[in-house]
Amino acid sequence: MITKAVLPVAGLGTRFLPATKASPKEMLPILDKPIIQYAVEEVQKVGIKDFIFITGKHKRAIEDHFDKATELEERLIKAGKQELLKKINFFEHLNFAFIRQKEPKGLGDAILCAKPFIHEEAFVVILSDDVMDPDYSVLKDMIDIYEETKSPVIALEEVPFDEVSRYGIIAGKKIREDYYLIEDMIEKPEKSRAPSNLAIIGRYILTPSIFRYLEKLQPGKGGEIQLTDALRALLSETPIYGYKIKCQRYDAGEKFGYLKTIIYFALRDPEISDDFRKFLKEQLSCI
Ligand code: UTP
Repeated sequence: MITKAVLPVAGLGTRFLPATKASPKEMLPILDKPIIQYAVEEVQKVGIKDFIFITGKHKRAIEDHFDKATELEERLIKAGKQELLKKINFFEHLNFAFIRQKEPKGLGDAILCAKPFIHEEAFVVILSDDVMDPDYSVLKDMIDIYEETKSPVIALEEVPFDEVSRYGIIAGKKIREDYYLIEDMIEKPEKSRAPSNLAIIGRYILTPSIFRYLEKLQPGKGGEIQLTDALRALLSETPIYGYKIKCQRYDAGEKFGYLKTIIYFALRDPEISDDFRKFLKEQLSCI
């Protein structure tokens, strides 16, 4: 059974500067919740209660967000705003641990920081920038594949060939609808060298065997310790499966993707969707 999720949040968020100069991109709001809360809620839906955050400099706000806010609670009670308490106490039955990645040396290095806290069990890794439609449970489908195969599973999405150089790309054999046996993978290939347009996106189920490969790894693309390179090496000892997601994914880690995420959620928010739709129509008719 999978009981732990690792959430690497130590990246510098350079695509979102200057907003991320002193505050974490994971705390940027999508409507009234920060990006990171969507990730925690998604993981929580599959019954996982133990969260390991890999944090870095300027990321204290994430710890505070998942901490109890006693003074705020008292003020809300005094002001007769009890209904707001459940908005800030959504996490009470969950466990959070925070580990500092000493330097942002890459996603692979961030995941290696979780090694002392993961024992023999498989674990989920979730990159909060990749925001999924909450009506689909990508993780549940991935866990089902893990339960069947006892092998690592990574989430895939078909992307336009012009964008392959932004992702890890796989070569694989389709086993069933939306389900691949991975044969090779390459981090951020040029379009001409990409073996497919199936991109690795921010949901993984990993087994502890990945740590042995991460420990040995030299910096790869962009001078970073790349998770894709460790997974590629792991292929020599274990099969790795790919699960092609069926839902919409948004990259909230860059400007346009972030805007699309907000619009997507705003159009589905019962409190504001009607007014927002009207506003959008008005705006579009003016240009
Ligand atoms: P990104 O590739 O999105 O990098 O990292 P980034 O630094 O967050 O953002 P940009 O590209 O500079 O705009 C993917 C995930 O890996 C984490 C990030 O926090 C993000 O969740 N990460 C990346 C780390 O935890 N540590 C690192 O050293 C690098």
